[in-house]
Amino acid sequence: MVREILIWPDPILKKTAAPVASVDDKVRKLVEDMFETMYDAEGIGLAAPQIGVLQRVIVLDTRPRQPESRPIAMINPELLELHGKTTYEEGCLSIPGEAEEVERAAVVKVRYVDPDGNEQTLVADGLLAIAIQHETDHLNGTVFVDHLSTLKRELIRKRMKRLKAERAEVRPQA
Ligand code: NI
Repeated sequence: MVREILIWPDPILKKTAAPVASVDDKVRKLVEDMFETMYDAEGIGLAAPQIGVLQRVIVLDTRPRQPESRPIAMINPELLELHGKTTYEEGCLSIPGEAEEVERAAVVKVRYVDPDGNEQTLVADGLLAIAIQHETDHLNGTVFVDHLSTLKRELIRKRMKRLKAERAEVRPQA
C-alpha cells in the first residue's frame, strides 16, 4: 500500500526512531509498503519516519544509478565505519523539488537486520553509501537540509510551507 509521505518541516521528522524489537509480519508489511511508496514517488531511498512510523527501518534502491545494486531493506541499521569524503547533490522525498550539495563519507560499513531476521554486514560506496547515510539520518531526526547553512535551510523551509499550503487547498474537504 502506498502511504502518504510527510513533508518537512514536520515534528515527526525531528524525532528519533525506536529500534525494531523483533522482525515479524508487521515489520515485513511495513517494508513492503515502504518499497511501494518509494517506487511510487520515484525515490531511491525511504525511511519509516517519512511515512509517520517511528521505527528504525529504511529501504533503498539505487539501481537507476548503480545497475549492480539491488533493492535493500535495513532494519536497525548501524553505521560501523565511515571512510573518506564525497559530496553529492541530495534530494529527499520529504522535501520535494529541492536539491543541495551535502558532504558525506565516501564509503560506509553498515550492520543491519534483513526482513528474514538475519544480521547482515555491507560495505557500500557511491550513491548507495550516500543514500544509507541520508536514510539513517532520518532515523535520528535529521534531514539533509540540517547539513546546510541556516540561510539555505530557511529559504527551503519557506518554499515547503508554501507547498504544504497549496496541497492543503487542493485536497478534498471530506
Ligand atoms: Ni530523505
